[in-house]
Amino acid sequence: MTGKFITFEGIDGSGKSTQARLLADGLKERGYDVVLTREPGGSPGADEIRRLVLEGDPEKWSAETELLLFTAARRDHLERLIEPAIADGKIVVCDRFADSTRMYQGLSRGDLRAKVDALHELMIGREPDLTLLIDMDPDQGLSRAKGRNGHEERFEDFGPGLQRKMRQGFLALADEYNDRFRIIDGSGSVDDVAAKVAAVVFETLR
Ligand code: ADP
Ligand code: TYD
Repeated sequence: MTGKFITFEGIDGSGKSTQARLLADGLKERGYDVVLTREPGGSPGADEIRRLVLEGDPEKWSAETELLLFTAARRDHLERLIEPAIADGKIVVCDRFADSTRMYQGLSRGDLRAKVDALHELMIGREPDLTLLIDMDPDQGLSRAKGRNGHEERFEDFGPGLQRKMRQGFLALADEYNDRFRIIDGSGSVDDVAAKVAAVVFETLR
């Protein structure tokens, strides 16, 4: 059996982590060998970088510095966890990947998309087999995300204007990479959304 690489994308609070976990459980129940992971992080080195980028003042890093940090974290995650698991025939379910960099570093403060793509090509060079975009109204997403009361709030602190720009950006990205993206409406109950996710994934695996 060949491994598969499935990613979840979407704005903050859209339900990616919840759905990634439910999908991983559903796949395991059906007998698949699954690795559930997330970015930034997913390996010890990448988790150290996660703390650097997600905590503190929104102005702490420029978009360019952030791009280097997220890419460094991704490279470590890819080398140590994702690629070995795929080579072993496992299904890797990852909460965010390079599409998040295309959006957050590529769009949030000026247009850095060309630099994001160049660095991705040079240092990462892998796209998911399937990407589930959980699409959601930014106000709903932000109130869900704020409800979590965490300390990793740097990006949420950029505010609702950024979330709106990200939502449109993700929809445009889904169109650009329409061979691997599927858009899922994230506004329903957890179970409704999970059923839609499962339908798309099992169809793809068949
Ligand atoms: P993300 O990983 O996209 O930021 P989460 O999965 O962490 O989103 O969800 C954000 C918050 O919203 C969590 O508190 C979660 O329990 C809640 N949540 C997730 N999905 C739903 C849903 N379909 N309906 C209501 N609340 C949800
Ligand atoms: P995450 O923990 O997925 O946050 P949330 O659960 O709120 O969606 O990701 C944390 C933040 O990191 C999120 O605001 C998006 C940002 N991020 C980037 O800016 N670039 C990236 O490459 C990645 C993977 C995440």
